[in-house]
Amino acid sequence: MTVKTRASILAGLGTWLPDRFVTNDELGRELDTSDEWIRSRTGIGRRHVADPGTATSDMAVEAGARALKSAGQDRADAVVLATTTPDRICPATAPLVAARLGLGPVPAFDVSAVCTGFLYALVTARGLIATATADSVLVIGSDTYSRILDPRDRSTRAIFGDGAGAVLLRAGGPEEPGALGPAVLASDGNGEELISVRTGGSREPFRAESAADADPYFRMNGKAVFRNAVERMAQSSRQVAEEAGWTVDSIDRLIAHQANLRILYGVADQLKLGRDRCPVHLDRVGNTAAASLPLALADAVTGRRLRPGHRTVLTAFGGGLTWGAAALVWPDVQPA
Ligand code: UT7
Repeated sequence: MTVKTRASILAGLGTWLPDRFVTNDELGRELDTSDEWIRSRTGIGRRHVADPGTATSDMAVEAGARALKSAGQDRADAVVLATTTPDRICPATAPLVAARLGLGPVPAFDVSAVCTGFLYALVTARGLIATATADSVLVIGSDTYSRILDPRDRSTRAIFGDGAGAVLLRAGGPEEPGALGPAVLASDGNGEELISVRTGGSREPFRAESAADADPYFRMNGKAVFRNAVERMAQSSRQVAEEAGWTVDSIDRLIAHQANLRILYGVADQLKLGRDRCPVHLDRVGNTAAASLPLALADAVTGRRLRPGHRTVLTAFGGGLTWGAAALVWPDVQPA
């Protein structure tokens, strides 16, 4: 979809991370793993973990409030929340977030696209603005993976962390800095089993009487996901750059879903982009799922690796399978 007249401008950026983090050495004292293994295979050094009393909505409210502050606004006309770890299966978490932000009776709903959730939410929000359903939309990615990880599974415990990030989109002209440019979203449900939580949905509801057979934890076939992730993110990044009229080598910053350093650099290498154009945040937060892109954006801006005027491509890959990319020229926005 190309919106010619009523574009969506990225006008605010906010993040929130739990205070507590778990280092690789701490994990190594609990599980059969080591700092050396985790760093060399993933690039991750630590991950934040929410306190037991903190849920996805709590983090989303904090990040959302900061995105509003960053945009210099105190309201938004809609909330789109990307998450795989909603507070409850029913209802959606976004209405609670909107209420706690004091936004009144605005439309608010969740988007479920696992680690691609933020991109899906961003493009959905643009649709709300393009159709004049809303003049501004708070787009939030918030995930509390620590609640769905198997405490004994070293391959997922090493990777995932908790956190939230948000942007405020507002209506504007397509030539303004920060106008969301070409975007591509895609899926392949044939890969459903590569990333899944088996028990707890309508296919296999949780039943107390068969609890022994239940598997309520997040499972991932890391190797297969890895291969797909590099391929799909590189291909969709190339597509949006071309649709934006940019040559691939003129992309200044590739902000990729922070899953694994080898995946990030695999994407950069496939695109023949210098790795210095691919900012890294996962070393300090791990894979924060739907929160990953806004957290990486904020970290890159704070570290002055992402600056106004940069030709920026956002790309992500996750369960579903789902993937996508979006292009924009980075505006003069500072995270709050
Ligand atoms: O967020 C979007 C979706 N997720 C991703 O994009 C993640 C994609 N996948 C990955 O990042 C990687 O596949 C992992 C980091 C998950 C795993 O790395 P890998 O190099 O693909 O390892 P592997 O799964 O092939 O496992 C190799 C070995 C296995 O042992 P055996 O069977 O060879 O004895 C694993 O059990 O490494 C073992 N292993 C570990 N060893 C120490 C897996 N995790 C760990 C660990 N510490 N934390």
